[in-house]
Amino acid sequence: MSEAKSSGLDGVVVADTAISHVDGERGRLVIAGSDVERLAGSTDFESAAGQVLAAGGLSTQLQARTTVGGIHADIRAALARARGAAWECLPRLGDALDAPDAMDALRAALAHLRSTRDDTEDAILAIGAAPVFVAAWNRKRNNASPIAPSPNLGHAADYLHMTLGHEPSRDAVRALDAYLVTVIDHGMNASTFTARVVTSTASDLISAVVAAVGALKGPLHGGAPGPVLDMLDAIGEPARAEAWLLGELAAGRRIMGMGHRIYRVRDPRAAVLERAVKTLASDRLALARAVELAAAKILQERRPDRPLAANVEFYTAVLLDAVGLPREQFSATFAVGRVAGWSAHVIEQRRTGRLIRPDSRYIGPMP
Ligand code: COA
Repeated sequence: MSEAKSSGLDGVVVADTAISHVDGERGRLVIAGSDVERLAGSTDFESAAGQVLAAGGLSTQLQARTTVGGIHADIRAALARARGAAWECLPRLGDALDAPDAMDALRAALAHLRSTRDDTEDAILAIGAAPVFVAAWNRKRNNASPIAPSPNLGHAADYLHMTLGHEPSRDAVRALDAYLVTVIDHGMNASTFTARVVTSTASDLISAVVAAVGALKGPLHGGAPGPVLDMLDAIGEPARAEAWLLGELAAGRRIMGMGHRIYRVRDPRAAVLERAVKTLASDRLALARAVELAAAKILQERRPDRPLAANVEFYTAVLLDAVGLPREQFSATFAVGRVAGWSAHVIEQRRTGRLIRPDSRYIGPMP
């Protein structure tokens, strides 16, 4: 058994935050003062985005501009306008949306946004643009015309409509809202840290978000749900789960959707998403449960010292598939939700005004 490895920053506190709190031992996630279970079950994406942005400090910036409906109503209308503005941007994106990978396309497309150097405006711009660019990428790759956003739809419904070309069912919208809220923020994960580092140099929010997309792309962070669905397809039926998983481990590969750097119990988001999928007709849910059980048992036998349970990506794959999104779009859909959390962290980081500059230990030869 090998020794525990460390990135050197494991457990190091790099910021005080009011946006979210992850308790890895107890499996608890608090977002802007609410448990994720409550927030995801009671709130749509726009309202959750308003809450994390307010927790990051947006309310003070927005006070001067708030209208009758307050910050949440303002954000709902502002996001609808931002989706419209992003749509107007499409002809100016060059070949950004031709990238075969959705995350590459999203990164390149977001990089075309011009920062206003005002975090509030940039945040709304980026959060509104992400679903428009991702949906347009999908349409383009299927040789279909992009579909314009609708100011009458909510963020989740509009994203599904722009991707699929038809008005989604209420259950699908509710499930996608639950997903986007569930992944909206998650402590000092790699992409959030990236966004805060960029901000700490006094750079702008758009640059921070573009860098964060690059960090989220990797399979150890946000790139796992597509491969989880591939795994479920390859296994096919519960009886084949154990043999298939053992084969993966024998080949030296990790089981996608299992394990987490912080959680030592099952990721609480897995339960939230599993519950949300139950409302949809998913033929993969029973298989997913069987594979999760088999994987947890095998990993427990192999590494009794290192709890490796399901993480958020496991049921993300099942949920996003059930609402009709293609697997190639899963990681980018994660970004559609997380961009609100990144933006909140940019706003919060800006208030500290302090450059993040860790140190390294030189282990090379001296001259
Ligand atoms: N399948 C098989 N073994 C795994 C595993 C998995 N999913 N996750 C961790 N392990 C093993 C590692 O190989 C390691 O074994 P070793 O010490 O013999 O090399 C041991 O458990 C400890 O892992 P560690 O390196 O401390 O985990 P980590 O904190 O670096 O990794 C993840 C966290 C998420 C990157 C990791 O669990 C993983 O790769 N999971 C699969 C990808 C995934 O689902 N990503 C989405 C994350 S939300």
